[in-house]
Amino acid sequence: MHQGSRLLIVDDTPQNLQVLGGILREQGYKLSVAQSGAQALEVARRVLPDLVLLDVMMPEMDGFEVCRQLKADPATAEIPVIFLTAKTEAEDVVLGFELGAVDYVGKPFNPPELLKRVQTHLELALLRRDLERQVEEKTSQLLQAQRLESMGQLAAGIAHEVNSPMQFIGNNADFLSQALEELAALRRQYHQVYQQARAGQPVAPGLLEELAAALEAADVDYLVTETTKALGKVQEGVKRVVEIVEGMRELAHPGGREKVVVDLNHLVQSATAVCRNEWKYVADLGLDLDSSLPPVPCFPGEISQCVVNLVVNAAHTIADVVKGTEGKGKISLSSRVAGTWAELRVADTGAGIPPEVQPRIFEFLFTTKEFGKGTGQGLSLVQRVVRDHHGGEVSFETEMGKGTTFVLRLPLGPG
Ligand SMILES: Nc1ncnc2c1ncn2[C@@H]1O[C@H](COP(=O)(O)OP(=O)(O)O)[C@@H](O)[C@H]1O
Ligand SMILES: [Mg+2]
Repeated sequence: MHQGSRLLIVDDTPQNLQVLGGILREQGYKLSVAQSGAQALEVARRVLPDLVLLDVMMPEMDGFEVCRQLKADPATAEIPVIFLTAKTEAEDVVLGFELGAVDYVGKPFNPPELLKRVQTHLELALLRRDLERQVEEKTSQLLQAQRLESMGQLAAGIAHEVNSPMQFIGNNADFLSQALEELAALRRQYHQVYQQARAGQPVAPGLLEELAAALEAADVDYLVTETTKALGKVQEGVKRVVEIVEGMRELAHPGGREKVVVDLNHLVQSATAVCRNEWKYVADLGLDLDSSLPPVPCFPGEISQCVVNLVVNAAHTIADVVKGTEGKGKISLSSRVAGTWAELRVADTGAGIPPEVQPRIFEFLFTTKEFGKGTGQGLSLVQRVVRDHHGGEVSFETEMGKGTTFVLRLPLGPG
């Protein structure tokens, strides 16, 4: 089953390469060969073999150094290395393993044993790749599940946030329709008077008085200012609802395989709108978003989720601090360009993170919150998304009694 695998064999003695090559080729393996350490590195990087058989004793660069360099390069780090050597001192064996080799074969080697080892390690590498793929798949499923879970947690708040503007949109719409009715009635009376006057008829007794009374009752000036205000409120309410809906859409975005370029400032605004109900009772929100920030390539649903997680954390710590007082804290979000990064800061006036807690905050399921309030998934998700999915960085600055600032950096170039 591994017959088509490509092996790189490295030995400074041509006869050894010949013997070894003969045995392996007979099994159907594809071969690349190198006669020095430097050549081995060059070939390994170019052909990316499935396994390397590496002589230890070579002039200039020995096998250990080759192995060290292969393991240091992410492109070749995963390729299994088997050392071939006449030296069998335990020390060397240990050093080889420490450098990341998977096995050792003594020279002169026994062909069936060598073949068996090669086959075993090819199989193991295949299994490992498969496992890694599965872990990756599970991780992305987990991310999606966490997103849905936090959407669920936000749902009640979102309903409330949509409901209240809808209610005042409704009230203002009622008022507008009443006002329009009054204006229409006035217009009818006015028209009557006008037509009689124009036809040269005497205006019917009482009509002028009626008109004056109606004008007085309707208070046209008042109607005009109030309807203008009411319209403004309707527009404001609509804007609020639209923002929340956009935030939900962004948050729920399943996220394809490809990143899309988005306006990070806009994303921040909609993410804070979605979780408004979580912070509005304890904090004021300050946004300082740099309008010259270029579009950022990212998975918008995931970044949205990160912003929500950070803002909710900020709201929680502020809630602890202002509990029992009338006061409110402040959550400040700012964006800017920092070199080749888009930088986003989320600062709170909360309690700060105690030194003994700091090393653990990004751990999956680590929480200092009571059951039901925290699950310990927020920051681990932030780190996974920003670092692993976007090649970005997450850091924080904190001071007890003053507050904490989380800093996210996302690469501006295609990551
Ligand atoms: N802004 C913050 N201020 C103080 N502590 C924080 C802040 N953000 C996170 N933490 C700490 O980090 C822990 C882990 O956070 P997180 O992963 O979001 O999980 P959770 O919020 O569910 O506890 C929190 O329980 C809290 O102790
Ligand atoms: Mg949290």
